[in-house]
Amino acid sequence: MLLQLATWPEVETYLESSTAVVVPIGSTEQHGPNGLIGTDAICAETIAREMSSRIDVLVGPTLAVGMAQHHLAFPGSIALKPSTLLALVRDVVESLLCHGFSHLYFLNGHGGNVATVGAAFSEVWSARSFAGSSRATPRLRLRNWWTGARVMALSAELFGDAEGSHATPSEVSLSWYAHADAVKDVSLTPEQAPDGVIRDAADYRRLFPDGRIGSNPGLASVAHGERILAAALEDALEDFQRFTEAD
Ligand code: NI
Repeated sequence: MLLQLATWPEVETYLESSTAVVVPIGSTEQHGPNGLIGTDAICAETIAREMSSRIDVLVGPTLAVGMAQHHLAFPGSIALKPSTLLALVRDVVESLLCHGFSHLYFLNGHGGNVATVGAAFSEVWSARSFAGSSRATPRLRLRNWWTGARVMALSAELFGDAEGSHATPSEVSLSWYAHADAVKDVSLTPEQAPDGVIRDAADYRRLFPDGRIGSNPGLASVAHGERILAAALEDALEDFQRFTEAD
């Protein structure tokens, strides 16, 4: 069930049998010359929606803007500061906790979100600790879809070290599978982008002039995207089940 397409009585009924919810989180940022700006949000949302078609789980709205300050030298990128994202995630968590949700599973499409979302979870737990609260402890998890065992094995098989770390052929393929009408036919020079560290926006554009890091998304295809999605779905379902059954 998708929260955006449900009514409040439906959510109330859902809570009688489950208190788990999946929240896709991504980013709106450049993904090189042939990757869609919405890639990170599209990937997380696509996998989460597939989860809801396989199991009875509520999927919340996609948080489609993330901590992406380092992409701001490329037009179209929209970023939240770490402090803004922290406040956003914390408010989303607290809202869901108000209704009795206990297990909040953030399915993540963007590496830049990881540290800040982790800090937001710490803020939620910290507020309870300092208040001496003995109410039920919220179970909060951030899961990067691309780190599952099946996805990692498949991306290694399909792309090897051309996977890189930003604008990867895996994520570009998956976003193209979700939006086949938006596939871009662009030649990339060099084929494989340079590697390096991320700091601020001007530094990023100087080091990675076309936006990619270490990747060759010229290898991306809709057909690969279908396989990546299938692998990511199995990884996510397995991890989500472990999360909800842990305690
Ligand atoms: Ni990405």
